[in-house]
Amino acid sequence: MTSTITVAAPSSTANLGPGFDVFGLAVNAFYDEITLTKKKTKGVKIVTDDDIPKNPDKNTSGLVVKTMIKKFKTKDGIEIKIKKNVPAGFGLGSSAASAAASAVAFDKLYNLGLNENLLVEFAGIGEKASAGSIHYDNVAASVLGGFVIVKTSPLEIIKIKPPSDLRMCIAVPKLKVPKKKTKVSRSVIPKKIDLSSSISNLSNASTIVVGFMNKDSELIGKSIKDVIIEPARKHMIPGFSAVKKNALKAGAFGVTISGAGPSVIAFSKNSKNLEKISQAMTKGFESAKLECQTIICKPSVGAKIKK
Ligand code: HSE
Repeated sequence: MTSTITVAAPSSTANLGPGFDVFGLAVNAFYDEITLTKKKTKGVKIVTDDDIPKNPDKNTSGLVVKTMIKKFKTKDGIEIKIKKNVPAGFGLGSSAASAAASAVAFDKLYNLGLNENLLVEFAGIGEKASAGSIHYDNVAASVLGGFVIVKTSPLEIIKIKPPSDLRMCIAVPKLKVPKKKTKVSRSVIPKKIDLSSSISNLSNASTIVVGFMNKDSELIGKSIKDVIIEPARKHMIPGFSAVKKNALKAGAFGVTISGAGPSVIAFSKNSKNLEKISQAMTKGFESAKLECQTIICKPSVGAKIKK
């Protein structure tokens, strides 16, 4: 019987502009690796060299595994080995990648055969550790891969295969981010929105879905327009307006905040000059005296068993 299993899960970008908490896209920029090992000694133990909470109740993977142990009444202790590669706190679904890998690994370790919606539901519990509340956009993308739509009550994830030529440039600014960054950036968004903003976001969100269905990267990119969340959050990203303006001028179809930020993501396709867009984004951050790392990436598959 298997006693140890390793799963890698991808980074992701949430929202894609108008799809706040609903849209997610797995991206091949980074992968977190989680190894679960059954132990004779009861309880959950975290083993990692990374600067993340070691207390399982405060750790994304720890929360997921503890919940699954309780739910499925498994008897073993579990050691969770965590290798983080997705930078934490930059809007790239770092906690979600660990949570997704943990849920998928636990499912395989005990041969539970859970369906994708349940895996996402368990992985979502891990988001509580960093965001303070559960949202499924990043975890759904990390579990399933590709483009996902989160349908709530009851939770159901709809997956659409992205166009093969879709490319993104992500600029990750060298900023000191608050420890509970997602919680902080969720606190600035409006509680109420006006009808015209809602119509605008609904219109763009709908055309993003059509873009994915029709494998039309240009339509996807041109619909990345958010008049609700981006205006409320952009003050938290020095240089955001310059980064966006520069990337659009360099040929990006659309630009927005990646998830809760502070990374900025530009949407394009592989025939476009992606290097030029990356450089334009770097210059934008430079105008705010910030360095950044740029990553050209494409959609990723979901969480995968390594061994
Ligand atoms: N949809 C979430 C947000 C993603 O924007 O707050 C953050 O992980």
